[in-house]
Amino acid sequence: DPVRYISNHSSGKMGYALAAAARDAGAEVVLISGPVAIPAPSGVEVRNVTTAADMLQASSEAVDAGCDLFIASAAVADYRPQSCEADKIKKTSEQMALPLVRNPDTLATIAARADAPFTVGFAAETTDVARYAIDKMQRKKLRMIVANDVSVPGLGFNSDNNAVTVFWPDGQASIGPDSKQRIADRLMVLIGDHLDQAAG
Ligand code: CTP
Repeated sequence: DPVRYISNHSSGKMGYALAAAARDAGAEVVLISGPVAIPAPSGVEVRNVTTAADMLQASSEAVDAGCDLFIASAAVADYRPQSCEADKIKKTSEQMALPLVRNPDTLATIAARADAPFTVGFAAETTDVARYAIDKMQRKKLRMIVANDVSVPGLGFNSDNNAVTVFWPDGQASIGPDSKQRIADRLMVLIGDHLDQAAG
């Protein structure tokens, strides 16, 4: 309704740090961002979106325009409310159920394209991190996946620090704990090496 929304603990800091790292590595960067409370890095083109559908559209357009590397770190809601009320919902009964419907998956849609760029996903997990991340990489047909355990206090969601493990089909590497910017810089080197190998 016009007063309330459902959200999550993601701050966008990891994605913004990656955009800055890619810019510093010499890339032309398009940063497609949901609503966040942090300033965008300078020197990158920002496309602001609010819904998962808008994120998919903006991403598809950016890939259509030509893109070598697609990194998806946004914590997109897997579901959205089935309907949006024009006026504030008033409380009536003791319980209420809010029907939710599935959102489109930007990462899986981009990775499934015949002309897919080198695609890297993120997996925020609270348990069985490696197993879920590798499963996600295979299911969404990704070249690499960056996994983090969001159950560790002081790391990940909303924090300036993080620790990640990156998986690719025949290897893995752990980075951190460190600041999100330093992790982003090291991730960009690792991703760049794999991108170069893929390009031959
Ligand atoms: N993602 C996306 N679009 C969505 C949901 C997720 O592009 N609608 C991307 C995220 O940016 C991230 C990856 O998919 O790179 C993992 O998201 P997650 O929601 O954890 O994965 P799921 O496959 O939905 O797995 P599960 O819900 O089982 O954890």
